[in-house]
Amino acid sequence: MSEPLIIGAMVRTLGAYPSGWRHPGAHADPLGDAAVLRRIARLGEDAGLDYLFFGDWLATGPDLEFRDPYLLARIDPLSAVLYLAGVTERIGLIATVNSTYADPYATARATASLDVLTGGRAGVNLVTGAEPRAAANHGRDAHADNAARYDRAEEFVRALRLLWESWDEDAWRADAASGVLIDSDGLRGAAFDGAHVRVDGPLNVARPPQSHLPLVHAGTSARSRALAAAEADLALIAAADPASAAATRAELRALAAASGREPGDVKVVVPVLPVVAETDAAARAIVDHLLLLVPIDDGSGHAGREGFPANRSLASFLDIAGVAADHVVRRASVDDPVSAAVAGTFDEPAARTLELVRRQTGRDLGGPHPVTWRLLIAAHAVPAAFVVGGPTAIADHFEAWRDAGAADGFNVLSAFQPAQFEAFTRLAAPELKRRGLLGSSGETLRDRLGLAAPRLARAAAPVG
Ligand SMILES: Cc1cc2nc3c(=O)[nH]c(=O)nc-3n(C[C@H](O)[C@H](O)[C@H](O)COP(=O)(O)O)c2cc1C
Repeated sequence: MSEPLIIGAMVRTLGAYPSGWRHPGAHADPLGDAAVLRRIARLGEDAGLDYLFFGDWLATGPDLEFRDPYLLARIDPLSAVLYLAGVTERIGLIATVNSTYADPYATARATASLDVLTGGRAGVNLVTGAEPRAAANHGRDAHADNAARYDRAEEFVRALRLLWESWDEDAWRADAASGVLIDSDGLRGAAFDGAHVRVDGPLNVARPPQSHLPLVHAGTSARSRALAAAEADLALIAAADPASAAATRAELRALAAASGREPGDVKVVVPVLPVVAETDAAARAIVDHLLLLVPIDDGSGHAGREGFPANRSLASFLDIAGVAADHVVRRASVDDPVSAAVAGTFDEPAARTLELVRRQTGRDLGGPHPVTWRLLIAAHAVPAAFVVGGPTAIADHFEAWRDAGAADGFNVLSAFQPAQFEAFTRLAAPELKRRGLLGSSGETLRDRLGLAAPRLARAAAPVG
């Protein structure tokens, strides 16, 4: 039997693949988010997943309709986890907080509250943000540069930890007989006075049951790695293949050791987008459908819409394929099959897209189920690292990444909701359990994630 992996759901109610909301029966109306969130929470909890994870984005605009529609209008992550706190009993709840814009006292307060309300099931994903438009939404002239964002993030984390430790474990006495409610010696200020963050404390919420909530960090830069290695329990990384994930994981573990932690104190989690069905063929048919639903420049009017990406046309695909400007194929219909003769001349990026489409959809050049230009345009313009298949294929993927030293866990995305998450929990989760890859136990999120006791930051003097 294997050690269980860390497996959580990365919840995007509108679906994680941009055309997912168009799939028959998919959730597509943000006003119905409450019901879908409840359904996802129930499925995740019953399947034994470790947590529900909510990302964040601090701006919106019409350009997102095509690129990342789930970012257009969605529930604020802290509101989402607070809502789900009341309808769940065991699963962890992780909300993203952007340290570039968030207030540390308000963040410590909201997250400690969530931890109290859930009996220790709360976690925080700290990001510094990559959306320039967030600045103007928060009264700033510009999005801070990488160095300034991480200078603030480091101070933000230290302030959070001090605030979470405001109350000594035994400071709340509630001794009715003597009339002593608190031991004021056990109530401590944070007295944090940094270059970017200043906060006095103590926190006006009881000590969180986990003392320090599990901290996730998601980023890509060298400063991000340093922060994750020094402070994070989980590092959420983006990785194209197991080899690059394994290299990042090795780097993070070495950096953690260099900062005085155990290498295994930072656990690496990668996003994964399984497309799951009873059989591999049925799963490939779903990918096929998703690609057909990607709006492209096919004469139906999408191309005239605000924010429509320039790379969704036959001409732009043929450019990257290196097909000559005067080639007859330039006048093809996007629903025409791609001939083997033309495909044989494709430059590398287009050839790779063709290979991916064949593998993921089961189509081929020629035959009864041919690859068409539309599929290539869609797959190139909206790339996704789908893991396609029935329960065995999905579990094999998880196991292969684990065996390659690429990941300690996975954040599971669903192309559309709730059916694809339902398919993951109904079909893939039992197979993962059977192999011992899913099924951590523990009352608190820290316990479930197998985290060591938190390194306390308590340095401040008692208030009184
Ligand atoms: C897997 C992953 C998930 C992320 N999720 C979010 C998110 O939900 N919200 C956000 O503002 N940024 C998110 N980020 C972006 C990071 O916060 C970061 O700002 C961005 O990757 C730029 O890298 P850097 O911060 O290291 O410069 C995510 C990054 C990764 C790798």
